[in-house]
Amino acid sequence: MEKYFDFDRVYDRRGTNSIKWDFFAERGHSEDELPLWVADMDFRSPEPVIRALEETAGAGFFGYTLAKYEDKKIVSDYLFRRHGFAPDPGDIIFLPSVCAALTMALLGLSKEGDGVMIHQPVYYPFANIVRDVGRKLVIDPLVRDENGRYIIDYVSFENKIVSEQVKFYILCSPHNPVGRVWTKDELRKIGDICLAHKVTVFADEIHADFVYEGSVFTPFASLSEDYRENCVTFTSPSKTFNMAGLQIAEAIVHDEKKRRAVLKTAAVYGLSEQPIMGLAAMKAAYSECDAWVDALVSYVYGNITFMEGFLKEKIPVLEMVHPEGTYLPWVDFGKLGLSRDKLEDLIRNRAKLWLDAGYIFGHGGEGFQRFNAACPREVLKQALERTLQAVISIPC
Ligand SMILES: Cc1ncc(COP(=O)(O)O)c(C=O)c1O
Repeated sequence: MEKYFDFDRVYDRRGTNSIKWDFFAERGHSEDELPLWVADMDFRSPEPVIRALEETAGAGFFGYTLAKYEDKKIVSDYLFRRHGFAPDPGDIIFLPSVCAALTMALLGLSKEGDGVMIHQPVYYPFANIVRDVGRKLVIDPLVRDENGRYIIDYVSFENKIVSEQVKFYILCSPHNPVGRVWTKDELRKIGDICLAHKVTVFADEIHADFVYEGSVFTPFASLSEDYRENCVTFTSPSKTFNMAGLQIAEAIVHDEKKRRAVLKTAAVYGLSEQPIMGLAAMKAAYSECDAWVDALVSYVYGNITFMEGFLKEKIPVLEMVHPEGTYLPWVDFGKLGLSRDKLEDLIRNRAKLWLDAGYIFGHGGEGFQRFNAACPREVLKQALERTLQAVISIPC
């Protein structure tokens, strides 16, 4: 019998120190806004993860903790089962989050003023991290083809690498917020340009498990030995298993010299050991939850399809960019012709929603809003009904 998982169940997450549900006033929002902003799902983590945490808590010892080779192999085996590429377990470094890992990699591998390129619109902490660690942020805009699909302009990409002396490129794969799952061909173009100009690729693959019909996720490092040596891959159980609060993520550094540099930097920042709860949860997540992940991805895709249908039928003035991956639909409100402030007013005060405004993702984000579809369908439906009522209320 097929296992049943209840993703429809609505939980009250208030009172759990949740950034999404417990910090309205502190972040300038009102309690009656429905939060669909941060990439945190409203689904309970799978039972094996909860059980592993209970068992670890029950043992009552919380001393200094280190991951073993076998624990790293669990990560590698998971990546192989889901994405067909098994990194050498010895190449895996555990760090508290992808952002922390990206920071450690930048600090360990680059020097002050080095050019670091990103493609905007993109996950906004990338720009902050690059600037905050004193590197030079180089922005290349994604462009849209005749079908509205976001693509990379390789001529602009290469020209900027040369003119801005770029040394590192942060690849968001799958891409948050535009939902692209880069094809092998696209990844090869990126990889070849980076190799030709000695640009190290930082491949953030945190959303890899959320890929939908017609698209296949390809780990960048799987494409060739040369790419592998020239990149650092970042991944984490935090998105798929909704466990960002357990503070465990992976940097996979294939080149030994680079790996030693990242490990040394992590040690300087006191990040050489692992959180005992995070480690226990990670092991259970990656080894015992495949059926749950399949069901989750299928449920979220159902939400995305539902949302696309709702907007097409009831609010056609809004354009949802069809996501090939991630659970973060990117919706263009541009045809409403509202200023940034008026759009903000529409979302917060009329729709009573807390979303991520597009402009914070940088170039090309103006006029967009990013939703989070990883919630029970009823909650998503409520959010869309609120959006509909708000749009209807706009004076002609
Ligand atoms: C592309 C991307 N990278 C990294 C993160 C953050 O991961 P972490 O919480 O492990 O730093 C997110 C979260 O939304 C993300 O979308």
